[in-house]
Amino acid sequence: MRLRNTTIMTMALSCAITFSTYSISFAEDGRCRLHDGTKVICPVRTDAELEAAADAYENEATQMAAGESGSTYGVAPFDYLTGVGKRTESTTLTEGDSGYGNKGGKTELWDRVAAPSEGESVYNQWTNNWSPTFKTTMVPGADPNEGKQWYYVYCIGCHGWGLQGDGPNAAYVEPRPRILTAGDYMNKKSNLQLFSVIKGGGEAVYLSSSMPAWGNFLQDQDIWNVVAWIRMMADTTPPATIEEYLNPKSTFTPIPGDVDALTAADSEEFLDVMEETELTLAGRGDGQLTGGQYVDGGLRKKPTEVSAKIKEGF
Ligand code: HEC
Repeated sequence: MRLRNTTIMTMALSCAITFSTYSISFAEDGRCRLHDGTKVICPVRTDAELEAAADAYENEATQMAAGESGSTYGVAPFDYLTGVGKRTESTTLTEGDSGYGNKGGKTELWDRVAAPSEGESVYNQWTNNWSPTFKTTMVPGADPNEGKQWYYVYCIGCHGWGLQGDGPNAAYVEPRPRILTAGDYMNKKSNLQLFSVIKGGGEAVYLSSSMPAWGNFLQDQDIWNVVAWIRMMADTTPPATIEEYLNPKSTFTPIPGDVDALTAADSEEFLDVMEETELTLAGRGDGQLTGGQYVDGGLRKKPTEVSAKIKEGF
Protein backbone atom coordinates (compact mmCIF):
# COMPACT_ATOMS: atom_id res chain seq x y z
CA MET A 1 0.00 0.00 0.00
CA ARG A 2 1.31 3.43 -0.86
CA LEU A 3 0.68 6.27 1.54
CA ARG A 4 1.38 9.93 1.32
CA ASN A 5 3.95 11.18 3.81
CA THR A 6 1.44 13.28 5.67
CA THR A 7 -0.78 10.23 6.13
CA ILE A 8 2.12 8.21 7.47
CA MET A 9 3.02 10.94 9.92
CA THR A 10 -0.53 11.31 11.13
CA MET A 11 -0.78 7.58 11.51
CA ALA A 12 2.48 7.38 13.42
CA LEU A 13 1.26 10.14 15.69
CA SER A 14 -2.08 8.54 16.35
CA CYS A 15 -0.38 5.23 17.14
CA ALA A 16 1.87 6.94 19.66
CA ILE A 17 -1.13 8.53 21.33
CA THR A 18 -2.93 5.22 21.35
CA PHE A 19 -0.04 3.52 23.11
CA SER A 20 0.05 6.00 25.89
CA THR A 21 -3.61 5.32 26.72
CA TYR A 22 -2.98 1.62 27.28
CA SER A 23 -1.35 0.52 30.46
CA ILE A 24 -1.37 -3.24 29.80
CA SER A 25 2.06 -4.06 28.42
CA PHE A 26 0.76 -7.08 26.48
CA ALA A 27 -1.47 -4.80 24.44
CA GLU A 28 1.52 -2.69 23.51
CA ASP A 29 3.46 -5.76 22.54
CA GLY A 30 0.90 -7.05 20.06
CA ARG A 31 -0.02 -3.86 18.30
CA CYS A 32 1.54 -2.83 15.03
CA ARG A 33 3.93 -5.76 14.96
CA LEU A 34 4.54 -8.30 12.24
CA HIS A 35 4.66 -12.02 13.01
CA ASP A 36 8.42 -11.80 13.60
CA GLY A 37 8.01 -8.99 16.12
CA THR A 38 9.13 -6.18 13.77
CA LYS A 39 7.47 -2.92 14.69
CA VAL A 40 5.55 -1.18 11.87
CA ILE A 41 3.12 1.68 11.48
CA CYS A 42 -0.41 0.53 12.21
CA PRO A 43 -2.49 0.68 9.05
CA VAL A 44 -5.36 2.95 10.06
CA ARG A 45 -7.18 5.91 8.52
CA THR A 46 -6.75 9.49 9.67
CA ASP A 47 -9.34 11.05 11.94
CA ALA A 48 -10.40 13.37 9.11
CA GLU A 49 -11.04 10.41 6.80
CA LEU A 50 -13.05 8.63 9.47
CA GLU A 51 -15.15 11.68 10.26
CA ALA A 52 -15.89 12.11 6.56
CA ALA A 53 -16.92 8.44 6.34
CA ALA A 54 -19.20 8.73 9.37
CA ASP A 55 -20.75 11.91 7.93
CA ALA A 56 -21.37 10.27 4.57
CA TYR A 57 -23.11 7.40 6.27
CA GLU A 58 -25.22 9.69 8.42
CA ASN A 59 -26.19 11.82 5.42
CA GLU A 60 -27.33 8.83 3.50
CA ALA A 61 -29.31 7.49 6.44
CA THR A 62 -30.95 10.89 6.96
CA GLN A 63 -31.82 11.24 3.28
CA MET A 64 -33.21 7.75 3.23
CA ALA A 65 -35.35 8.43 6.31
CA ALA A 66 -36.65 11.60 4.64
CA GLY A 67 -37.52 9.65 1.49
CA GLU A 68 -35.00 11.66 -0.52
CA SER A 69 -32.86 8.84 -1.79
CA GLY A 70 -33.59 5.39 -3.00
CA SER A 71 -32.37 2.14 -1.68
CA THR A 72 -32.92 -0.99 -3.66
CA TYR A 73 -32.60 -3.07 -0.56
CA GLY A 74 -34.80 -0.75 1.45
CA VAL A 75 -32.15 -0.21 4.05
CA ALA A 76 -29.97 2.87 3.72
CA PRO A 77 -27.01 1.50 5.65
CA PHE A 78 -26.92 -1.50 3.35
CA ASP A 79 -26.33 0.79 0.40
CA TYR A 80 -23.62 2.68 2.11
CA LEU A 81 -21.96 -0.26 3.69
CA THR A 82 -21.85 -2.52 0.68
CA GLY A 83 -21.54 0.16 -1.94
CA VAL A 84 -23.70 -1.86 -4.31
CA GLY A 85 -27.29 -1.01 -3.57
CA LYS A 86 -27.43 2.58 -4.76
CA ARG A 87 -29.82 3.54 -7.48
CA THR A 88 -28.62 5.36 -10.51
CA GLU A 89 -30.60 8.05 -12.29
CA SER A 90 -31.77 5.46 -14.73
CA THR A 91 -33.03 3.18 -12.00
CA THR A 92 -36.62 2.22 -12.60
CA LEU A 93 -37.47 0.51 -9.36
CA THR A 94 -40.86 1.43 -8.04
CA GLU A 95 -41.61 1.80 -4.38
CA GLY A 96 -41.60 -1.49 -2.52
CA ASP A 97 -39.38 -3.25 -5.01
CA SER A 98 -36.19 -4.65 -3.79
CA GLY A 99 -33.52 -6.86 -5.14
CA TYR A 100 -31.93 -7.77 -8.38
CA GLY A 101 -33.98 -8.11 -11.52
CA ASN A 102 -37.25 -6.99 -10.02
CA LYS A 103 -39.49 -5.46 -12.70
CA GLY A 104 -36.47 -4.21 -14.56
CA GLY A 105 -35.05 -2.60 -11.46
CA LYS A 106 -31.41 -1.67 -11.76
CA THR A 107 -28.70 -0.75 -9.39
CA GLU A 108 -25.47 1.08 -9.71
CA LEU A 109 -23.15 -1.86 -9.63
CA TRP A 110 -25.10 -4.91 -10.70
CA ASP A 111 -26.49 -2.95 -13.60
CA ARG A 112 -23.20 -3.48 -15.26
CA VAL A 113 -22.93 -7.24 -14.83
CA ALA A 114 -22.87 -8.63 -18.35
CA ALA A 115 -23.91 -12.12 -17.34
CA PRO A 116 -25.77 -12.09 -14.04
CA SER A 117 -26.25 -15.30 -12.13
CA GLU A 118 -29.35 -17.29 -12.81
CA GLY A 119 -31.91 -19.03 -10.70
CA GLU A 120 -31.13 -19.49 -7.04
CA SER A 121 -27.72 -17.91 -7.22
CA VAL A 122 -29.32 -14.55 -7.98
CA TYR A 123 -30.26 -14.61 -4.32
CA ASN A 124 -26.67 -14.91 -3.22
CA GLN A 125 -25.47 -12.48 -5.82
CA TRP A 126 -27.91 -9.87 -4.72
CA THR A 127 -28.74 -10.46 -1.09
CA ASN A 128 -25.34 -11.66 0.01
CA ASN A 129 -23.47 -9.62 -2.55
CA TRP A 130 -21.52 -12.59 -3.84
CA SER A 131 -19.27 -12.11 -6.78
CA PRO A 132 -20.34 -14.65 -9.38
CA THR A 133 -16.84 -15.02 -10.76
CA PHE A 134 -15.14 -15.04 -7.38
CA LYS A 135 -14.26 -18.70 -7.43
CA THR A 136 -10.70 -18.90 -6.17
CA THR A 137 -9.22 -19.04 -2.72
CA MET A 138 -5.83 -18.41 -1.14
CA VAL A 139 -6.89 -20.30 1.99
CA PRO A 140 -7.47 -23.98 1.16
CA GLY A 141 -10.86 -25.18 2.36
CA ALA A 142 -12.26 -21.66 2.79
CA ASP A 143 -14.64 -19.72 0.54
CA PRO A 144 -14.07 -15.96 0.20
CA ASN A 145 -17.61 -15.33 -1.03
CA GLU A 146 -19.07 -16.84 2.13
CA GLY A 147 -16.58 -14.86 4.16
CA LYS A 148 -17.54 -11.66 2.39
CA GLN A 149 -21.13 -12.22 3.39
CA TRP A 150 -20.23 -12.57 7.09
CA TYR A 151 -17.87 -9.64 6.82
CA TYR A 152 -20.73 -7.46 5.61
CA VAL A 153 -22.88 -8.62 8.50
CA TYR A 154 -20.43 -8.14 11.35
CA CYS A 155 -17.35 -6.22 10.32
CA ILE A 156 -18.14 -3.35 7.96
CA GLY A 157 -19.42 -1.08 10.73
CA CYS A 158 -15.82 -0.63 11.82
CA HIS A 159 -13.56 -1.90 9.03
CA GLY A 160 -15.59 -0.40 6.12
CA TRP A 161 -17.13 -2.05 3.06
CA GLY A 162 -13.88 -2.04 1.11
CA LEU A 163 -11.91 -3.18 4.22
CA GLN A 164 -10.37 0.27 4.33
CA GLY A 165 -10.78 0.81 8.08
CA ASP A 166 -13.38 3.51 7.50
CA GLY A 167 -16.72 2.09 8.60
CA PRO A 168 -19.22 4.56 10.12
CA ASN A 169 -18.24 3.44 13.64
CA ALA A 170 -14.50 3.63 13.06
CA ALA A 171 -14.24 7.19 14.34
CA TYR A 172 -15.66 6.07 17.68
CA VAL A 173 -13.33 3.22 18.60
CA GLU A 174 -9.86 3.36 20.09
CA PRO A 175 -7.51 2.29 18.69
CA ARG A 176 -8.74 2.73 15.13
CA PRO A 177 -9.80 -0.37 13.21
CA ARG A 178 -7.07 -1.72 10.99
CA ILE A 179 -7.08 -1.23 7.22
CA LEU A 180 -7.47 -4.91 6.42
CA THR A 181 -6.22 -4.46 2.85
CA ALA A 182 -2.81 -3.16 3.93
CA GLY A 183 -0.67 -5.87 2.33
CA ASP A 184 2.64 -4.72 3.83
CA TYR A 185 1.14 -5.44 7.19
CA MET A 186 -1.60 -8.03 6.75
CA ASN A 187 0.19 -10.32 4.29
CA LYS A 188 2.76 -11.01 6.97
CA LYS A 189 0.19 -12.11 9.52
CA SER A 190 -0.31 -15.86 9.68
CA ASN A 191 -3.71 -17.43 9.10
CA LEU A 192 -3.63 -18.53 12.73
CA GLN A 193 -3.17 -14.93 13.88
CA LEU A 194 -6.08 -13.70 11.78
CA PHE A 195 -8.28 -16.62 12.78
CA SER A 196 -7.49 -16.06 16.47
CA VAL A 197 -8.20 -12.34 16.48
CA ILE A 198 -11.53 -12.87 14.73
CA LYS A 199 -12.60 -15.75 16.93
CA GLY A 200 -11.29 -14.52 20.27
CA GLY A 201 -11.20 -10.76 19.72
CA GLY A 202 -8.27 -8.39 20.10
CA GLU A 203 -7.36 -9.71 23.52
CA ALA A 204 -6.71 -13.20 22.14
CA VAL A 205 -3.67 -11.85 20.29
CA TYR A 206 -2.69 -9.12 22.77
CA LEU A 207 -4.54 -6.38 20.93
CA SER A 208 -7.35 -4.24 22.26
CA SER A 209 -10.81 -5.49 23.18
CA SER A 210 -12.12 -2.77 20.84
CA MET A 211 -11.90 -5.62 18.34
CA PRO A 212 -14.75 -7.83 19.59
CA ALA A 213 -14.68 -11.64 19.75
CA TRP A 214 -16.86 -13.31 17.10
CA GLY A 215 -16.49 -16.90 18.23
CA ASN A 216 -20.04 -17.00 19.57
CA PHE A 217 -21.52 -15.62 16.35
CA LEU A 218 -19.43 -17.34 13.73
CA GLN A 219 -18.58 -21.00 13.45
CA ASP A 220 -14.99 -21.94 12.74
CA GLN A 221 -15.71 -22.54 9.06
CA ASP A 222 -17.30 -19.08 8.82
CA ILE A 223 -14.17 -17.58 10.34
CA TRP A 224 -11.96 -19.43 7.86
CA ASN A 225 -14.14 -18.05 5.09
CA VAL A 226 -13.67 -14.52 6.44
CA VAL A 227 -9.90 -15.07 6.56
CA ALA A 228 -10.07 -16.19 2.90
CA TRP A 229 -12.00 -13.01 2.03
CA ILE A 230 -9.45 -10.78 3.78
CA ARG A 231 -6.63 -12.58 1.92
CA MET A 232 -8.43 -11.99 -1.37
CA MET A 233 -8.47 -8.24 -0.76
CA ALA A 234 -4.81 -7.52 0.02
CA ASP A 235 -3.76 -4.19 -1.49
CA THR A 236 -7.04 -3.69 -3.34
CA THR A 237 -8.87 -0.38 -3.35
CA PRO A 238 -12.62 0.23 -3.64
CA PRO A 239 -13.48 -0.91 -7.17
CA ALA A 240 -14.06 1.60 -9.94
CA THR A 241 -15.49 -0.96 -12.33
CA ILE A 242 -17.49 -4.11 -12.08
CA GLU A 243 -14.49 -6.08 -13.39
CA GLU A 244 -12.38 -4.82 -10.55
CA TYR A 245 -15.14 -5.61 -8.14
CA LEU A 246 -15.54 -9.16 -9.30
CA ASN A 247 -11.85 -9.90 -9.72
CA PRO A 248 -9.88 -8.21 -6.98
CA LYS A 249 -6.14 -8.47 -7.58
CA SER A 250 -4.76 -9.53 -4.27
CA THR A 251 -1.04 -9.35 -3.47
CA PHE A 252 -1.25 -12.10 -0.88
CA THR A 253 0.81 -15.23 -1.27
CA PRO A 254 0.25 -18.02 1.25
CA ILE A 255 2.85 -18.35 3.98
CA PRO A 256 4.54 -21.77 3.65
CA GLY A 257 3.43 -24.20 6.34
CA ASP A 258 0.64 -21.93 7.58
CA VAL A 259 -2.44 -23.65 8.95
CA ASP A 260 -5.64 -23.43 6.88
CA ALA A 261 -9.21 -24.71 6.96
CA LEU A 262 -8.17 -28.10 5.59
CA THR A 263 -5.28 -28.68 7.98
CA ALA A 264 -6.65 -26.99 11.13
CA ALA A 265 -8.14 -30.11 12.68
CA ASP A 266 -4.73 -31.82 12.55
CA SER A 267 -2.65 -28.86 13.69
CA GLU A 268 -1.60 -29.16 17.33
CA GLU A 269 -0.67 -25.50 17.44
CA PHE A 270 -4.08 -24.49 16.13
CA LEU A 271 -5.92 -26.77 18.55
CA ASP A 272 -3.87 -25.48 21.51
CA VAL A 273 -4.62 -21.86 20.63
CA MET A 274 -8.30 -22.71 20.19
CA GLU A 275 -8.48 -24.40 23.57
CA GLU A 276 -7.21 -21.22 25.19
CA THR A 277 -9.33 -18.91 23.06
CA GLU A 278 -12.51 -20.83 23.76
CA LEU A 279 -12.01 -20.53 27.52
CA THR A 280 -12.60 -16.81 27.09
CA LEU A 281 -15.80 -17.23 25.08
CA ALA A 282 -19.09 -17.45 26.92
CA GLY A 283 -21.39 -20.38 26.25
CA ARG A 284 -18.76 -22.66 24.77
CA GLY A 285 -18.55 -25.06 27.70
CA ASP A 286 -20.85 -27.77 26.37
CA GLY A 287 -18.36 -29.01 23.82
CA GLN A 288 -20.59 -28.20 20.88
CA LEU A 289 -18.33 -25.75 19.11
CA THR A 290 -14.83 -27.00 19.50
CA GLY A 291 -11.79 -25.62 17.74
CA GLY A 292 -10.93 -26.57 14.22
CA GLN A 293 -13.88 -28.83 13.77
CA TYR A 294 -16.82 -28.82 11.47
CA VAL A 295 -20.18 -28.23 13.13
CA ASP A 296 -22.98 -30.14 11.46
CA GLY A 297 -26.18 -28.47 10.44
CA GLY A 298 -27.24 -25.34 8.61
CA LEU A 299 -26.00 -24.48 5.16
CA ARG A 300 -22.29 -24.60 5.92
CA LYS A 301 -19.99 -26.69 3.82
CA LYS A 302 -17.14 -28.79 5.12
CA PRO A 303 -13.62 -27.57 4.26
CA THR A 304 -13.23 -30.52 1.88
CA GLU A 305 -16.49 -29.61 0.13
CA VAL A 306 -15.35 -26.02 -0.21
CA SER A 307 -12.08 -27.26 -1.65
CA ALA A 308 -13.86 -29.34 -4.24
CA LYS A 309 -15.94 -26.36 -5.30
CA ILE A 310 -13.25 -23.72 -5.37
CA LYS A 311 -9.94 -23.43 -7.15
CA GLU A 312 -6.89 -22.78 -5.00
CA GLY A 313 -4.59 -19.93 -5.96
CA PHE A 314 -5.26 -17.38 -8.66
C1 HEC B 1 -16.43 -2.39 17.00
C2 HEC B 1 -15.50 -2.24 15.90
C3 HEC B 1 -15.00 -3.49 15.22
C4 HEC B 1 -15.73 -4.48 14.60
C5 HEC B 1 -17.24 -4.58 14.48
C6 HEC B 1 -14.76 -5.40 14.06
N1 HEC B 1 -13.50 -4.98 14.33
FE1 HEC B 1 -11.77 -5.86 13.75
N2 HEC B 1 -10.69 -4.51 14.80
C7 HEC B 1 -11.22 -3.41 15.42
C8 HEC B 1 -10.14 -2.67 16.05
C9 HEC B 1 -10.31 -1.40 16.84
C10 HEC B 1 -8.96 -3.38 15.78
C11 HEC B 1 -7.56 -3.01 16.23
C12 HEC B 1 -7.28 -3.58 17.60
C13 HEC B 1 -5.90 -3.24 18.12
O1 HEC B 1 -5.01 -2.95 17.34
O2 HEC B 1 -5.71 -3.27 19.33
C14 HEC B 1 -9.34 -4.52 14.98
C15 HEC B 1 -8.46 -5.48 14.52
C16 HEC B 1 -8.80 -6.48 13.65
C17 HEC B 1 -7.86 -7.41 13.08
C18 HEC B 1 -6.40 -7.54 13.44
C19 HEC B 1 -5.48 -6.77 12.57
C20 HEC B 1 -4.10 -6.84 13.17
O3 HEC B 1 -3.57 -5.80 13.53
O4 HEC B 1 -3.57 -7.95 13.28
C21 HEC B 1 -8.57 -8.21 12.22
C22 HEC B 1 -8.03 -9.33 11.35
C23 HEC B 1 -9.94 -7.79 12.29
N3 HEC B 1 -10.05 -6.74 13.17
C24 HEC B 1 -10.97 -8.38 11.60
C25 HEC B 1 -12.32 -8.15 11.86
C26 HEC B 1 -13.37 -8.97 11.36
C27 HEC B 1 -13.20 -10.11 10.38
C28 HEC B 1 -14.53 -8.48 11.91
C29 HEC B 1 -15.93 -9.02 11.73
C30 HEC B 1 -16.15 -10.43 12.02
C31 HEC B 1 -14.18 -7.34 12.71
N4 HEC B 1 -12.83 -7.18 12.68
C32 HEC B 1 -15.09 -6.55 13.38
C33 HEC B 1 -12.54 -3.05 15.48
C34 HEC B 1 -13.60 -3.81 15.03
